Formats: sequence, structure tokens, C-alpha cells
Amino acid sequence: MAMILFDEERKVFRLDAGNSSYAFYITPSGRLRHLYWGPSMDTTDLLDLGGGTLNVEPPFDPEENQNGRGSQLWEFGPNDLGTKAPASAIVRNADGNTATDPRYVSHRIIAGKPRLPGLPSTFLNSDDEAETLEITLVDQPTKVEFLLRYTAFRDLPVIARSAVVTNKGDAPVDLQKIMSLTTSFRHEDLDVIYFDGFWAKERQYHRERLQGGMRVLGADSGYSSHTMNSCVVLCDPKTTEEFGRAYGVLFVYSGKFAVEVEQAPLYRTTLNLGIHPVGFSWYLEPGESFQSPEALQAVSDNGLGALSRSWHDLIRQHIINPKWRTAKRPILCNNWEAMHFQFSKEKLMELGKTAKANGIEMLVLDDGWFGKRDNERCALGDWYANTEKIGGTMGELAEAVRSLGLKFGLWFEPEMVSGDSDLYRAHPDWAIQVPNRRSTYQRFQFMLDFSRKEVVDHVYETISAVIEEAKLDYMKWDANREMTEVGSLAFPPERQGEIAHRFILGVYDLYERITKRFPNMLIEGCSAGGGRFDAGILYYSPQIWTSDNSDAFDRLAIQYGTSFAYPCSTMGAHVARNWFPQRYSPVETRAAVAFSGTFGYELDLNQMPPEELAQVKGQCEFYHKHHHIVEQGDYYRLANPFEEKTVAWMHVTKDKSEFLLTVVFTRWDHAYEGQTLRLPGLDLNATYTDGEHTWTGKRLAHAGIEISHSSFRSDMFSIVIHGKRV
Ligand code: GLA
Repeated sequence: MAMILFDEERKVFRLDAGNSSYAFYITPSGRLRHLYWGPSMDTTDLLDLGGGTLNVEPPFDPEENQNGRGSQLWEFGPNDLGTKAPASAIVRNADGNTATDPRYVSHRIIAGKPRLPGLPSTFLNSDDEAETLEITLVDQPTKVEFLLRYTAFRDLPVIARSAVVTNKGDAPVDLQKIMSLTTSFRHEDLDVIYFDGFWAKERQYHRERLQGGMRVLGADSGYSSHTMNSCVVLCDPKTTEEFGRAYGVLFVYSGKFAVEVEQAPLYRTTLNLGIHPVGFSWYLEPGESFQSPEALQAVSDNGLGALSRSWHDLIRQHIINPKWRTAKRPILCNNWEAMHFQFSKEKLMELGKTAKANGIEMLVLDDGWFGKRDNERCALGDWYANTEKIGGTMGELAEAVRSLGLKFGLWFEPEMVSGDSDLYRAHPDWAIQVPNRRSTYQRFQFMLDFSRKEVVDHVYETISAVIEEAKLDYMKWDANREMTEVGSLAFPPERQGEIAHRFILGVYDLYERITKRFPNMLIEGCSAGGGRFDAGILYYSPQIWTSDNSDAFDRLAIQYGTSFAYPCSTMGAHVARNWFPQRYSPVETRAAVAFSGTFGYELDLNQMPPEELAQVKGQCEFYHKHHHIVEQGDYYRLANPFEEKTVAWMHVTKDKSEFLLTVVFTRWDHAYEGQTLRLPGLDLNATYTDGEHTWTGKRLAHAGIEISHSSFRSDMFSIVIHGKRV
């Protein structure tokens, strides 16, 4: 069945993605106007929606007769021409003005989906999973062409969008803004849900009523996530986890981004998502093109939970490398929190022995193994082993770890250079910098100028040599500072606005080369914790360290926020010591929270209290046995940790034969007997058992399960129930 239809007479495009429809039309003057986004609709109904404007023929042009700002629903908004809605594109032309008015020229509908050159993007497993609409618009005076791509997925209510801008004129132009996605909403009261944060406090959930005016939810730090994540939801104010309309967007990109949401008078709301326009420009000589990153949109009529499950399926099926889709990720023990820079081969081997004895599968040596790196002030960029510190070559250390029966992984921070490093001393011009201004020295480091190929080549060669020598099973790819004083000594003045994006393209180029050369090495993304948690990084590395903060209570909030777009199988989550002296969580709860991610340990096992260490083996066995439910199942949020003191969530296998329910009572309360939780997502005609009790699916779904309080001895007490169909 066709997923994309065009009504010739009324010039309406209808895209059917999963159980949803999305529609827009070409006005008589050739502009694109939004029409509809929601559950499946017939074309006849859509044609009714145009408010009379669909049918009007020139010379009467409705464009000229609109009453300004409030009335237009843009699908791709012009700049400075007849509208003041936030523009989708701004081109500064040779005359110096920025009037931009792309108008329809042609379109075609093709099977499948092209990949985006140089950028991560959603891919198909077979061509019949999606159709793509390509629309060509041209700004006639400048001859700048815009190729808009829309891919509708057959089985998911998701549309992928991007744009290619080509200068077909004969004078250079400056592209100053290009949104990958514009859409509009008519006469709707909307809540906006977004996820902001900070180091150790990533993806904090906020929900507010959208008010008039423009909001920019974005990050200009050079990273996709510490300050804000591109996962933004607009929804009906009555929408809950299980009921109501929700519209989501997500960017397949790891750099500066902006989600612009403007509610204008007459309740016209415009939403744009793209590269952050502040500081961005791209100089296009005649014949040159710019490819925007890919933006995604998804819609649910069954609440926020269903929206998240669509994102999870999309990421698992169409973003993550199929190699890792169902491959079990090793339980790892990372030495960072255990040792920081103070490690030795002996200490590592002691940790490895205890890890192995308890069912852990991999040892990861974090920061400090290279150059003269005994503290955070030096040596980034000097990617050769400190043989004195690791008691021999890296190959020997790796072999020694392997001889314990463990896999071996190493930490890198490929995009950075310390001021105090051999690399910086040899190539000070290889750092991102602005001439005649002092570069901010964050965490005693600069960013390498990844807009230059020779810099990426050098890093590729040096880290590949280590990976090869150690035959690494795993690499933790960190990035620990913000992008400031953005400039490159290798590019002319008119191209300095390109550097932030060119940097990200360099990062993707390195990821591409490393993953091609070492296809069996697992990469875990990281950025001072979860500062770069996005679908672009997930394209290369199927898991990302969610936060440096492993306090179980804080992790409830961080993982809750992260789960709105990202499946639990992508969230690095480890059992650590109690992170804050002010707060205690039993080790059972630290594990219960970490089970809902890619599991591991981030502490010195040999320093654990014996009664805690005694539990590690059982925890690893539990994870080995049940990881598939978390990795491949459907995820249900049952309580919001920002609002409730009993937090719960659930994973259910796709065939509904198994579930994993986790409940965390964050605060002890003497007048509280327990909680009844109704469990969605189960088979109503089945019977389930946890080995001790049996329940029918109906009972669990409609009456719920009683989580008794009787064994609840402290704050942060938790219960994990594994249920199986009888
Ligand atoms: C960052 C990471 C940590 C750790 C340190 C090492 O902060 O998020 O997990 O790797 O760097 O310096």
C-alpha cells in the first residue's frame, strides 16, 4: 500500500506512517502549508480542513489576503515575506538582504530511503519499510534550491525529514538558517514537555502550558544534551501516559540544535527543529550544497507511553547498528570511581579477579592510562600507553586481563587536547580557537579542530594503533568540555560560521572510520556523563553513559527523563557506591535501578562491604537471565519520580510472555501500607506467575497487583518482580 499520496487537483500530500497521517499542500503561489498531523485520515477529510484556502485559484492569492502573523500554518516558512512566523530557512543573498521565499517546483515519490552523506540517519532493513517524498522548492530571485525529504515509515508513526540546500545561482550566498523540520498546529491548547539539565542532573522532566510568544529549547554548548535534549513533546493538556494526543520530535544530531516553538495569536503554533541558527552560517559558492541533519517526528493518540515506545522501536530498528540490536552487552566493571588516576596493574588485576568471580564479563580501564596523565591537567591527545603505570605494554595488560576470562575496554577522549600535552606543543594550531582571543580552558583542555581532515586523520591513526595492539572489545568515547571561542585557523573568514557543524562532521567521520575498521568493538558514548545522549551518537554506539551521577534516587529521575525518547537498552547504568554521603540506597536498589539499562559496576568491588559483595553474583545472574526483557521489550512508565514518592516502571516482552516490574519506595512512611499498581501491556487472556503467586492478565491489568510494604525497611527500598506466562 502506498504510504505517500499526492492529490493532483488540490495539491495535497498525504503521508501515512504507521497508524498516523500527516498532510500539507501547495498553495496557488507555490508555498507549502501544513494541514494535518494525527491518527490516520482519509484524503476527503483532509481536503475539508483547508479552511477554504485549498481551492482558491490565482489570480486571487490567499497569501496576499491573510491577516499577518496569526493565521498561517507553515510547512516550510519563508523569511521576511508576508509572514513573521519563525522561518524555516534564511539565505543572505549577494545583495545583502535575507528575504527567502522557497516555492514549489516539482516533487517525486520513491521507494525506500536514501542515507545522508556524512551524517548519521535512520536506515531501513528493507526498501519496502518506507517511502520517501522529495520536494524541490526554489527561491526564484537567488535560484537557491531546497530539496525537502520526508520519509514515512510503514510500521511506525514516524516521519524522517531533512533538507538539501543548493546554490543554483551565479553568485555566492550565505545560508544562515536551515531547519530540518517545520510543522504547525491549529487552534490547539498545548503543553510542552522538555528535558533540560546539567552535569550529573541530565534530562530533567518539565511540563508546562505553552503560552504566547517564542521559546527556543536548545543547546549551544556544542553538545546535544547537558543543557537540553532535542526530545521535545507537545501534547494535549489532558494527555497522560496512557491517554491522549502527543506529538514528539527528535534530532539525529550531536551538536548545537534549536527547537523553536512559537504560539502566535489565533492559536497558530509553529515548531521548528534544526541546527541552532545562532552562530551558524554556511557559505555556498555557485553549485555548492548543504545537507541538513535528519529530524524525526512521531505522533501518538494513546498517550506519552505509546509515543516513547514508538521512539524506542525506531531507535532499535532503524538507528542502532543491527549488529548490536539483539547482541547481549557485556556486564562491565569500570575502574574510574574505584581508582580515578591512582591505579596500577596489580590493582586492576585484583579488581578483575573479583569481577570474574562474580559473573562480570569485562574490565574497563578508564582515564589515566596514556601519556603522563596522572591528573586531569595534562596529556589528552597523547594516545600512547604509559607503560610504567600499566606495568608493561597495553597489549600485555590486555592479555593479562583476558587471561582472567574477561573482555577488556579502554577510555578515550578523541576530540580533545590538553594544553600540557605533546600533541598541543607540536600543533597549537590544531585547537579550535578564535585569533586574538584567549581560549577558555575548560577542565584544562581544548577541543581539537575536527573541521580539519589532517587532525581527524592523526587521531584516527593514533587511537587505532592502541585499539589494534590491545584488541579492544570496548571503547568508552568521552567528550568533556563545551565548545567555546569557535573558530578554525584553516578556514577563511566567510566560513567561520561553519566550524561548529564541521566539527561534528569530523566526529562522525572518525566514528564511521573506527566502527568500519573495528566492527566487533562495542563503543559506549559519554560526555561528562550524559552530555551527548542523542540519536546521532546511537547510530555508532549502541549505548551511552547516562550520567556520572549513579545515586539511585537521582538516577530514577535521569533515567525517567531519558526514557521519553531513548530505549533502556541504550542507557549505561552501573551499581556504584552510595554517591552522596547524605543519601543511602541499599545495594539491591542500586542494582534494581541499573538493571533497566546496560548493566555494570562502577566501584571497587574489593572495597564493598562483604554483605554487599555477596549480592553481586546474584545480581549478575539476574541480569544475564532477564536482560532480553529490558533490551528488546516494551517499556511502561508507571509513576513519575518528579511527582510521586513511589516510582515504578515495567518492561514487557513483545510477545507478552514475560515482564519485569520494578518499584522503588523512595521515602519510608509509617502510615503507608503499600501500593496497588495496575500493569498495562500484558496479555489479558494469560495467567502469569512470579514463581510464588499466580495472577491472571485481567487481574493485573484491571485490579492491579498489591505491592506490600511490610518488608520495607528504609528509604529507597525496592522490589523487582519477574513474571512469566504460565
Ligand atoms: C568523565 C566521564 C567519567 C570518567 C571521567 C574520566 O567525567 O563522564 O565517567 O570517564 O570523565 O576523566
